[in-house]
Amino acid sequence: MDKVNNFSYKAWFQPAYAKPVNLAYNVIAEGEDAGFAREECLHGLSALNMDIESNITLSVDNNLPNEGYNIISDMGGIKISGGCKNGLLYGVYGLFSHLRQGSSPAGFNFSSKPKVSMRIINHWDNGDGSVERGYAGKSLFWKNGKLGYNLERLKDYARLLASIGINQISVNNVNVKPQTAKLLTEEGLTDLVKVAEVFRPFGIKLIIAVHFDSPCWIGGLKTSDPADGQVADFWREAAERVYKAVPDLAGFLVKADSEFNLGPLAFGHTQDVGANVIAKAIAPYGGILHWRCFIYNCLQDWRDTVTDRPKAAYDTFFPIDGKFDSNVILQIKHGPSDFQVREPNSPLLGAMKNTRQSIEVQIAQEYTGQQKDLYNWAVQWEEIFDHPFNETRKTRDLVGSGKELEAVVAVSNTGDDENWCGNLMAQANLYAFGRLAWDADFKARDITEEWVSLTFGKDPAVFAPIVKMLMDSRLTYEKYNAPLGIGWMVCIHHHYGPSVDGYEYMKWGTYHRADSKAIGVDRTSKGTGYTAQYQPSVRDMYENLNTCPQELLLFFHRLNYDYVLKDGRTVLQYIYDTHFEGAEEVEEFIKVWDSLKGIVPDEAYHSVKERFDLQLENAKEWRDVVNSYFYRKTGVGDARGRMIYV
Ligand code: GCU
Repeated sequence: MDKVNNFSYKAWFQPAYAKPVNLAYNVIAEGEDAGFAREECLHGLSALNMDIESNITLSVDNNLPNEGYNIISDMGGIKISGGCKNGLLYGVYGLFSHLRQGSSPAGFNFSSKPKVSMRIINHWDNGDGSVERGYAGKSLFWKNGKLGYNLERLKDYARLLASIGINQISVNNVNVKPQTAKLLTEEGLTDLVKVAEVFRPFGIKLIIAVHFDSPCWIGGLKTSDPADGQVADFWREAAERVYKAVPDLAGFLVKADSEFNLGPLAFGHTQDVGANVIAKAIAPYGGILHWRCFIYNCLQDWRDTVTDRPKAAYDTFFPIDGKFDSNVILQIKHGPSDFQVREPNSPLLGAMKNTRQSIEVQIAQEYTGQQKDLYNWAVQWEEIFDHPFNETRKTRDLVGSGKELEAVVAVSNTGDDENWCGNLMAQANLYAFGRLAWDADFKARDITEEWVSLTFGKDPAVFAPIVKMLMDSRLTYEKYNAPLGIGWMVCIHHHYGPSVDGYEYMKWGTYHRADSKAIGVDRTSKGTGYTAQYQPSVRDMYENLNTCPQELLLFFHRLNYDYVLKDGRTVLQYIYDTHFEGAEEVEEFIKVWDSLKGIVPDEAYHSVKERFDLQLENAKEWRDVVNSYFYRKTGVGDARGRMIYV
C-alpha cells in the first residue's frame, strides 16, 4: 500500500503540535560526517513540529563509545555528538525522543551507548511479496519475484529502524526460495545494491539469507556437499560477486538442516563443516555468517517418547563447540521450542565457551495472537533476559559485545499495511525490540511508557490506561492460551486459535500427552533428561517440583490434574480459572479502549477496536475449547460452576 501520511503511519514520530511552530531551525553540522545527521535532524524537527529555538550543533567525536552519543545543552545551544556517524544519528533521534517526552531543551545532559554492536532484524519476506508469519500485509521489499518497493516508504522504514538503534537487517526469508536465492546472482544483486543505498545512510547494513543448496540451485553443480572443492569454489565466487556489489554487506544468514532445508547433515557432516565453508568465503570481506540453531527432527513419530524436541539444538551444537570459524555466529532461539507464550530459555544460550552466539526472538506474533490479540513482547523479553544462566549470572549478563551473546536478533513484525504492523498497538513491539537490543537492562515498563508517550502523548487519561493494558497483555494472553508452559495446542500450520490435540499425533515433536489423569512430559532426569542441559543451579531448580516456577510446571513435569499448586488450587482448577479470567480480561481491555473513543485519534480507535473484537472471539474460543477438553478428559467440573461445554 502506498504511503499515507496519517497517525498510525507516523508511528512513534508524532508531531508535537497540529500546526508547524518553528521551521527556522538552526542545525549546524561540524564536519562532513555530520551531514546526513543534519538532514535527519531538520527533517525530524519539522515533521515533528518541534518548538525549539536553540542552535543544534552536530559532530562526530571519536573519543565517545563507537555508536554512543551525548546530548548536552549549554549557553551555545544543544550539542549532539556521536562516537561515529551512527552514534550521531542515534543522538538526533534521542533528541526527538527526549523532547517529545517532555524534557526541557535547556537542561539536556544525556548520554547513551548500545551494549551490543549487532542489533538485527530478520525479515521473513518471500520473493512473491508474501511474508512468512507476516501479519501486516505484504512485503516491504519484494514484489513479483524481485526486490521491488516504494522508495519513500522504505526510507521511512529505515528511519523507524534507525531511530530505535537497529543496524542490520536481512531482507529475505530464512526459508530461502528459488526467487530469493537469486540474491547471489548478478541479476539479484543489481536490485540489492539499490536497497543497500536506501539503508546505508541510516547506518543499517544488509544481510542476505542464502540457501545451503545454492551450489545446485544456482551454481549448476551436482552437489552442495561442503567438503567438495567445487562447492567451496562456488561459495567463494558467490561471495566475491556479492561483496563487489555491496561491499558493506554485513553477512549471510543460513537455516540449514531445519524444517526441510538442506544442510550438512545430508552429506554426513556436522554443522561446523557446513558453516565454515560459507564462512571462509565471506571472511575476506569482513562478512559474518549467522547460522541458525533451530534444528530438530520435524519428522518425529508421535509414538516415540524418547526423542524430546527441546533437547535438539543443544545436542546438535554443544558437542562441536569451538569448531566454528571465527566469523560464524550461532543464532539461537530464545526458547527450546518455538516462540511459545511461555518457555524456559534455551540451555544452549551461553553454554558454548568457544563459539560466538546470538539470541533470536520474534517480534512477529506468530503464536502470540498474530497482531490481532494485544501482546506486549517487552514483558516476555524482560523475563527472558531475567532468566538465570547459572548461580550468579542472568541471561542479560551474557549479552554484550565481547560476551557470550554478541548480537540480538528478531523476526520482524512489519509489512506494507499502512500502520506497518497490522495492529497499531504492535508498533510497541517493534519499538521495544530496538530498545532492548540496545540495552538488555532496560525495563519493559519503561520502554512501554516511552512508546505510549511518544505515540499517544502523556495525557494521563490516555497514557495510564494504555500502559496498563500493554503491561497486562502478556499475562492475559497466556491465561487463555496453553497452560503452565506446556505450549502449542494451536491450530496446525497457521497457529492462530486453539486446537488442543492439533499437533498431538503429528510429526513435529510437540506433544502434551494428556490422558484422563495427567498431562505433560517429564523432562527431568527421570524423564527425557532435558534438564541436564542447563547449568547445575538452573537444572536443579527445574528438576525439583518445589522450585520449578509454577508457570513452567507443565513444561518440565508430568502432573496429575489433581496435583495441588502452591496457591492451593489443583492443576485442573488452575486451567479453568485462568481461561475464564483470560477472556474476562479481554472484555475489560475493550471497555478501557472504548473509554478512549474521541480521545485517541479516530483512525487509531477504530482500527484497534476491530482487533480487540477479534481478540475477544479468540479468547472465548480458547477458553471454551481448552476448558471443554479438560472437562471431557477428566470428568471433573469447575469448582465454581461456570459454564463449560460438555
Ligand atoms: C517456526 C515457524 C516457521 C519458521 C520457523 C523458523 O517454526 O512456524 O514458519 O520458518 O519457525 O524459525 O525457521
